[in-house]
Amino acid sequence: MSLVPFDDRDGWIWLDGQFVPWREAKVHVLTHALHYASAVFEGERMYNGTIFELTAHTERLFKSAEILDFKIPFTVAEIDEACKATCAKNGFTDCYLRPIAWRGTEQIGVSAQQTKIHVAIAVWSWPDYFPAEQKRKGIRLTHALYKRPSPETAPTASKAVGLYMICTISKHAAERDGYADALMLDWRGYIAESTGANIFLIRDGVIHTPTPDCFLDGITRRTVIRLAREKGFEVVERHIPGEELGTFSEVFLVGTAAEVTPVSEIGEHRYQPGNISLALMDDYAKLVRGELVNA
Ligand SMILES: Cc1ncc(COP(=O)(O)O)c(C=O)c1O
Repeated sequence: MSLVPFDDRDGWIWLDGQFVPWREAKVHVLTHALHYASAVFEGERMYNGTIFELTAHTERLFKSAEILDFKIPFTVAEIDEACKATCAKNGFTDCYLRPIAWRGTEQIGVSAQQTKIHVAIAVWSWPDYFPAEQKRKGIRLTHALYKRPSPETAPTASKAVGLYMICTISKHAAERDGYADALMLDWRGYIAESTGANIFLIRDGVIHTPTPDCFLDGITRRTVIRLAREKGFEVVERHIPGEELGTFSEVFLVGTAAEVTPVSEIGEHRYQPGNISLALMDDYAKLVRGELVNA
């Protein structure tokens, strides 16, 4: 597979308030964030010229930074405008956006109180997180190597880069075994999420989703709960023991990147993408494009 590296592309990246040519948007090797994971980020999508839930994403970026004990030196409105401007500058109406904020080079050590806080926004074309043909028939998940940590062990409410270490290791192991992704339980053994998306499970027409008390309460997750309730489905948020995995008939993942993606198997368990998953997949696709009537 030939990959175009992310540092060798055409376009513009918004960096600390200015647009810089894509290949010049660099950091030094002694950047605090690279050594101590002092960075937070967002993943957003623009559809038909509108960034879905832009301000909710920007507010979460600020909240994530606050949890990591730093303050982003811009306002939410400024970052919202910068996100829109970055899409426009690169000529996109449909794209993925990656805002990121991090501690700079002024100090290298556990204490980093004097480091400058940087912010960048990059955008690129990213049609499907999972291949489209796999999506409708459902993707295959295995069990993850790692569990989501307790909120007493890590800043789990933040979209902090350090929390993705266990996701990358787990996803690589899954891919090596031929799976698309992995299901992570939490430290108590409750179903949590996949390595980059929230999960919904259906039994007897009722939709169940884990209580997000140690992983990201995704913006897509909240949107899908609303869409499902508007369609008249019962949605139950609760702690779901891993032992219940075999009792559900439909399962799907949701996230900005994954959108709504049905799951056909998790380890030894099998599921059929059914009417509820496919209806919510279609409704979400319409909603984000401003095509859902009565949304
Ligand atoms: C670990 C993880 N969980 C859940 C989500 C879903 O969050 P959202 O719907 O806000 O994109 C994401 C990211 O997209 C994620 O990386």
